[in-house]
Amino acid sequence: MELPSGLMAALKNAEKVLMLTGAGMSAESGVPTFRDAQTGLWEKFRAEDLATPEAFRAHPQLVWDWYTERRNKIRHVSPHAGHFALVEMEQYFETLLLVTQNVDSLHQLAGSTEVIELHGNIMLSICSETGQQIDDRWIRTEPGRPPRSPHHPQGLARPAVVWFGEELPAGSMKRATAEALSCDVCFSIGTSTLVQPAASLPFIALDSGAIVIEINPNPTALSSKAHFSLQTTAAEVLPTIAADLAGRK
Ligand code: APR
Repeated sequence: MELPSGLMAALKNAEKVLMLTGAGMSAESGVPTFRDAQTGLWEKFRAEDLATPEAFRAHPQLVWDWYTERRNKIRHVSPHAGHFALVEMEQYFETLLLVTQNVDSLHQLAGSTEVIELHGNIMLSICSETGQQIDDRWIRTEPGRPPRSPHHPQGLARPAVVWFGEELPAGSMKRATAEALSCDVCFSIGTSTLVQPAASLPFIALDSGAIVIEINPNPTALSSKAHFSLQTTAAEVLPTIAADLAGRK
C-alpha cells in the first residue's frame, strides 16, 4: 500500500507518539475480535453479557469456562509483523506509548517496552473478593465452580480483566489521557472506538491538535475525523510505515 506523503511528513517531525490498539490489532494473530469471538458452544451468549461482574456472580463456572477457552486459544498465538513494526518504531521517537485494550500480551511478547493494558490481562487470575493476583500454582480446578482464591474464604479465581462496569487499573487512564493531550501523533489501530473511556483517547488527541491516523479496514466513528484513515489491516500497513521511517529518520 502506498502511504499518503503527508502522513510520513507528520511522522518525520513527531517527537511524542501515542498508539491506541484494539482487538483488530490481534486479529491477524488469530485472536478473534471481542464481538466475533462467539462461536460453537458460546454462540447463544453475547460477549457483553458474559464479561460482567454480575454474570460472574450469577454463573461463575460459565464465565470461568468461557475465559478458559479464550485463554487456551491465546496460548497458541504469536505476534505478527504489525506488532514487531510497532517495536521497531520506538527508536524513531522521543516517546512512544502503547495503550492497548487487548488482554492477550501480544505487544509485550513482541517486545514493546511501554505498554498500558487498559483492560487488564487475560492470562493472569485475581481473587474475586480482594483483587489480589493469584499465583498459577494455587489454581486447582474443582467441579462446578472456578478455582478457590487463597486470599479470601469466599473468594474465587477470576481473570484479571476489566469487565463492563468496572474501574480501569488505577492511574492507567490518567496516564493515557495525559499522553493524548500532549502527543504530536496518535494512532488508533484495530479498534471500533465504541467502548469508553479508551475510545475517547484519539478524540482527545484530535482536539489537542495532534495528527490522528486510523488503521482499520472498516469505517468507525473516528474515520471521518482522523487526518488519515487507512482502510487496511495492521499487519499490512505497519511494517510499511516502519520501513519508510527507517529510511527517513
Ligand atoms: N487490522 C486492523 N483493524 C481490524 C482488523 C485488522 N486486521 N481486523 C478487524 N479490525 C477492526 C474491526 O473493523 C473493528 O473496528 O478492529 C475493530 C475491532 O473492534 P472491537 O471488536 O469492537 O474491539 P475493540 O475496539 O478493541 O473493543 C474494545 O471492548 O468489548 C470490549 O474489552 C473489550 O477490549 C475490548 C473493548
